[in-house]
Parts: sequence; C-alpha cells; structure tokens
Amino acid sequence: MSARALATGAVNLGQGFPDVDGPAEIAKAAAEAVLTGKGNQYPPGPGIPELRNAVADHQHRFYGLTYDPDTEVLVTAGATEAIAAAMLALLEPGDEVIAFEPYYDSYAACIAMAGGVRVPVTLRAPDFRPDMDALRAAITGRTRLILLNSPHNPTGSVFTRDELAAIAELAIAHDLLVISDEVYEHMVFSGEHLPIASLPGMRERTVTISSAAKTFSFTGWKIGWITATSDLVTAVRTVKQFLTFVSGGPFQYAIAEALALPDDYFSSVSGGLAARRELMVDGLAATGFEVYRPAGTYFITTDIRPFGEVSGLEFCRKLPYKAGVVAIPSSVFYDNAGEGQFHVRFAFCKKEEVLKEALNRLSALRPG
Ligand SMILES: Cc1ncc(COP(=O)(O)O)c(C=O)c1O
Repeated sequence: MSARALATGAVNLGQGFPDVDGPAEIAKAAAEAVLTGKGNQYPPGPGIPELRNAVADHQHRFYGLTYDPDTEVLVTAGATEAIAAAMLALLEPGDEVIAFEPYYDSYAACIAMAGGVRVPVTLRAPDFRPDMDALRAAITGRTRLILLNSPHNPTGSVFTRDELAAIAELAIAHDLLVISDEVYEHMVFSGEHLPIASLPGMRERTVTISSAAKTFSFTGWKIGWITATSDLVTAVRTVKQFLTFVSGGPFQYAIAEALALPDDYFSSVSGGLAARRELMVDGLAATGFEVYRPAGTYFITTDIRPFGEVSGLEFCRKLPYKAGVVAIPSSVFYDNAGEGQFHVRFAFCKKEEVLKEALNRLSALRPG
C-alpha cells in the first residue's frame, strides 16, 4: 500500500510510521555515536550495557518491574526480530499459539516459521474486548503460549487490568507462556497500560517486548528489546544470535539516552497524538465512516458499510484513485475476517495538515 501511495501521489495513512522524526537531541546522539566510533563495530550480542540498563530502568520507572540488565534484558533488531526470535525459541513444531485477531501481520509469519499453529481468538467490534470464554475454549493440551498485544494494533483497544488478570489466571492455570507485545505502551488516551508481567505469577512466564520505533518515532532504526527471566532471555538470545547476531550499534547508544528522557517526554507521546485522534475520529465520522474510537496506538478502525461497500480490500484498492488516500484493509490482520472484511484502518501518526488534507480528499466519498 505504501508503494501504491507513492505511485499515485495519495496521502499515505496506511503503514504506521510518523512523518516527523523523534527528538532532535536523540538523532544528534546517534550521529555523535557514529562520528566518535561508538557502536560502529559489532556491539555485544545481548546489546550494549548502557541500553540494557536503560531498558531495565524504564521498566522500573513506569511499572515497578525489576529486571537484571545483565541477564534479563536482550536488545533486538526492532520488536519484529524479538517476536520472531521468541517464537523460534519457545515453540516446538505443532505447538499452538493463541493470539487475539486481528493481529499484526508478522505474528502469523513468525508462528508459521517456528512450525507453530495459530489459534485466533477474535476481538469484535464495536469495543474489541477480549472474550474470556472464547479464550478458555481455545486452550488445548497443545497450547504453548498466548501472544498478547495491548495497546492493540490495529483496533486501538487497550486491555484493562481485569482483562489482563483473567488472561493471567488462565495462563497460570494451564502453565502457558505469554509473549506480550507492548510497542504502543506510551500511546494510551484512555485507561492505562499495564504490562501483564506486573501481575502476580506472571513475571516468570512472560516475555515482554517493546521497541524504540513508536515511542521515539524512529521506526527506521529498528531498536527493540525483550525483558524476561534469564532462562527465557537465554533461549531467545540463542536464536537471535543466528538471526541478526547484533544490529544498530550507534542507535543503541542514542536509544539508551532516549529511554532516560524525563517523564514529560513520555506523556507528550500520547498528549501529542490526542488532538489528531480527535481530528480523525470526528473527520472520518463526518465523512460517513462508522468509526471505532481507539483508546490507544495511532490507528483508527472504521467500517465502510455506510458507503454501501462490503469489501475492505476492494475499498482500499480503489481509495487512492477515488479519493487520493491510502488505508489498510483490516482483513489482512485476520485468519477469519468475518466482520473484519468491512473494516479499514487509518494511521494518524501524521502531521495535522496531512490528516486535514486526507479528510478533505475523503469528503469526496458519498455514503451509499
Ligand atoms: C504490534 C506491533 N508489534 C511490532 C511492531 C514492529 O516494531 P519494530 O518496528 O520495532 O520492529 C509493530 C509495527 O508496526 C506493531 O504494530
């Protein structure tokens, strides 16, 4: 879809990357690291100590979680590698992985690469809440782990403490691991982000994944990390060693500084997006979409049926030509698209004027 945006000159609200870079001082720290020879040669396999310390400090500062930076933190090539390495490390062929669909597209690929079997549990409109009965019913003797993502891409749903506690109870009762993808942890507009690892009995069975891409608006740097017990980190590191070994040396120094930014920075992440969420929620609704208001992330899910359309895929194929805008059909995030076939995702991590231009163009659409 990004290629289609380039080819047609459409406003790209498809892929989730911001059109403004992260903090200038952090970019400068990366440039200085390159110029002063920090990280230009292979950094240590688990990541540079400065970044591992900064990740551990961040988990403690925001969530009261304590991780040993030497044995319980691993730096990865973005959250994407963390997900892949965790699946390859923790799954045996035939193991079942329960994931809440719609899900981020790398999940299906990574489960498949590890020989796992994905078992979707569907989050349904309008609220996209996890259905605990469906989750319970999905657990079998082959279930190895639950793959969580909250705040959730693409729906913007943020799981509540009660929901996470119910998931934790099932994970403990069935002795399951949890992989928790928390890359949108600092993008919450209502409710709170709670790492499932912070719930009783969960630290020892959870691999928490996050990344600098979203929090610091440097998606191209590909610096991610996991926090988990040393046994789990060792397993994931053993795989990571043969995927990328290491990456992003100078960026690791810069992100170590970024993670130490004052609290104000972290609250400004969702603060800065909140007005754009309002603009898009109101603007898309005014255009005629049914809009599902996100509680977190920088994505909005909409329903296209008010336009008389029944296929998000077709709608998104035509949209660049009809309205000069690119969006993503949510069906790509499902195994069983069901009502997801009517849904289309817009990213709002773009400048306000860009969003206004997109809304202006979309106003050419007419509800059917
Ligand atoms: C849910 C989710 N996890 C992981 C990633 C990838 O993160 P990274 O760029 O750090 O690999 C994304 C990126 O869009 C995402 O939406």
